[in-house]
Amino acid sequence: MSKKKALSVLLTAGLVLSVNGVYAQGPEGAPNLNAASAFDNKIIKKISVDNMYNTIDLLSKEPRTAGTDGELKGAQYIKGQFEKYGYETELQPFKFYDVVRNNVSGLVEIGGQNLNPYVFSGSYSGEVTADVMHVGKAIAGTVPDSVKGKIALIERGDITFVEKIQNVLNKGAVGVIMYNNSGTSNAFGQASYGQNIPAVAITRAQGMALVEQLKAGPFTAKIKVSGSGFLEKTSYNVIAKMKPHKNKDTGQIVMIGAHHDSVPGGPGANDDASGVSAVLELARVMANMPIDTELRFVTFGSEEKGLLGSYHYASTLSSEEADRIVGHFQMDMIGSKDAGGDNKANGLIMYTIDGKKNTVTDLASAAGLRTALGEVVPYGQLGRSDHQPFHELGIPAALFIHSPLEPWYHTPADTIDKIDKNKLQETAEIVGAAVYQIARPDTPALQHSRVAPKPVDYDFENRPPGA
Ligand code: BES
Ligand code: ZN
Repeated sequence: MSKKKALSVLLTAGLVLSVNGVYAQGPEGAPNLNAASAFDNKIIKKISVDNMYNTIDLLSKEPRTAGTDGELKGAQYIKGQFEKYGYETELQPFKFYDVVRNNVSGLVEIGGQNLNPYVFSGSYSGEVTADVMHVGKAIAGTVPDSVKGKIALIERGDITFVEKIQNVLNKGAVGVIMYNNSGTSNAFGQASYGQNIPAVAITRAQGMALVEQLKAGPFTAKIKVSGSGFLEKTSYNVIAKMKPHKNKDTGQIVMIGAHHDSVPGGPGANDDASGVSAVLELARVMANMPIDTELRFVTFGSEEKGLLGSYHYASTLSSEEADRIVGHFQMDMIGSKDAGGDNKANGLIMYTIDGKKNTVTDLASAAGLRTALGEVVPYGQLGRSDHQPFHELGIPAALFIHSPLEPWYHTPADTIDKIDKNKLQETAEIVGAAVYQIARPDTPALQHSRVAPKPVDYDFENRPPGA
């Protein structure tokens, strides 16, 4: 088949629509099937990229770090906008434990010498003096019971820091000294809330010396950590719902999400005020549309702390409710002028957790061809955002982002001047058109139809290996 293979999408209305790049410019009289439908136009003509830009400008005036006033202010603004558009809105609080690093100091004293260790992020603050025992990489099942009451000397590698600490904690160890598995650095390691023993890091050379010393006979060490630990904080999700008219209700829910928190010190214009701006703009545009599917717009808190907001939100869904969610569209970093490189689709890509296409990618990829972008959107495999908890519930989910990333990612330079209105517009159109294809009343409920029974032809799949 030619490079421009026909893209066949069975629309939910039951039509087979053949979309072919050749036909688009093709013979006179041939319908331009790449063009936006009247239904798409109901959404895309109303999108105001200036609204989106203004939202980013407003939100990125200061960092929105989870658990700070900056986050709460941002969340309240978002809630206010949803309310203005007529949505049933909720500010959903949740608690989390945030790492504290405040004048951190750490000491490992052996035979009167200080090894000047690095204190693990989140390490418990305290002082212990005990015999040292080498437990290798502290893999579960290999840690001896005799580590009880001792300081565990552990080699870095193979499993996570938190797992290693937990494996020796489960056997009653009172402290952790971890040595690096390569290089000369001692700056690594993190502990999790509730792991209440001091945990510090030393270099590989220091670790090897201790392993040798243990062969000659047991010895004692003192570990002392201060200024480190966890603090309970509150973060928020902002939830907006629009129910369909009672006699039009398919029982389905479609979700559109972004995260409103930023990294500390970062204004997070692209990450992820950009996604929030599209969530708000699509909520505005769809507020008074006829729909047969519940729309749920959510901005999550504490994404940067480990997807905490989306996991919390997912944990509040009943299984009956989760079953009704037919797709989650996550927009995270959709507007950087410096992202995307020379990749096709202006670098826009849809990431799924399993790397497989799904309802969300099929609908959005087809929408890419019909809207401002004018191209099929490729997909790939990646987590790292709030689509993860939805995937884990069995809900088709994808992350919309530009790849490669901009150099400003997670820096104080992630500011409004790096935002490209064109990218914002393209992504909002794609997600808006795809969501409306599910939600508009003339298309049957997804459970009663197949959205794309013939696979969508994502032509990047046909690239020769390595291209
Ligand atoms: N927007 C990013 C996600 C991202 C970054 C996706 C780069 C693809 C490429 C997100 O806000 C983020 O930074 N996530 C964290 C993961 C999270 C579990 C703390 C990350 O990737 O470090
Ligand atoms: Zn992000």
